[in-house]
Amino acid sequence: MLNEIPISRLISPLKDWYDENHRPLPWRDTKDPYRIWISEVMLQQTRIEAVIPYYHRFLSELPDIPSLAACEDDRLMKLWEGLGYYSRARNLKKAAIAMTENHGGAMPRHYKEILALPGIGPYTAGAIASFAFDLPVPAVDGNVLRIFARVSDDHRNVLGTELKNELTQALSDTLIQASQNPDFSSGHFNQALMELGERVCLPGGLPGCDTCPWASDCLAKERETTPDLPVRIKKTTRRVEDHTILVVIDGETILLHKRPKKGLLAGLYEPLNLPGSLEEAAAVDHIRRLNLD
Ligand code: ADE
Repeated sequence: MLNEIPISRLISPLKDWYDENHRPLPWRDTKDPYRIWISEVMLQQTRIEAVIPYYHRFLSELPDIPSLAACEDDRLMKLWEGLGYYSRARNLKKAAIAMTENHGGAMPRHYKEILALPGIGPYTAGAIASFAFDLPVPAVDGNVLRIFARVSDDHRNVLGTELKNELTQALSDTLIQASQNPDFSSGHFNQALMELGERVCLPGGLPGCDTCPWASDCLAKERETTPDLPVRIKKTTRRVEDHTILVVIDGETILLHKRPKKGLLAGLYEPLNLPGSLEEAAAVDHIRRLNLD
């Protein structure tokens, strides 16, 4: 269980390992909260290699908070095209507008104010606050939960609130305590945890325990429970919808419409479509009744 491990003892081996082994990722070169925020939002559902070109293109077109706040929606969607989960981009713009209106066009410097911005949850607020401002706050995502479930051999559900809340509190206490040493950096520690989760303490049956700086402290390794952890019990199932897509083409022109402003894929362009799975005759009949030229 989580309370079986002294987290503060793990800090120093993790730092040594990170200093030797980390990858030079573009958002690690900066303390600019805007760049850190954009990278964290892009990385939420997307692999690092896929994010890097988007990150550079986005920042060269929209280099600061005011330019993002003023960006036309269609241009923003174009910059995000291919990354998916478009509400992330819409929330970026909403938050940029909020910062322009309430924070002089800059990222606020307090965790609670960062957390209050649209689209920013506890993980992203913790990442921005610690990487940009070195505030002693944790950034607990799936990687961090997996690492701690294993190192403490904790079999509680990582998708529930109990373990997550307990870990957040334990890390927060550890960071506040460790920050009394001026050589300690909470941002460095959080970044090192992410690297450990992405490079060593991998999900599934193939964690790299041979190279892990925490191998001698890891209770799951000692008890041979690593492949069983983390425990992930999902509450809801994914909803599947059937739609019939009408691809109406005239020479090089394809008929698109813009989706409603709210709901799934809000405001994006798409071919016409109808709910349900239609037979060809019914689909063609529908198109005829549109009286297209
Ligand atoms: N995954 C999410 N945030 C990250 C970061 N800052 N560096 C590496 N991987 C990440």
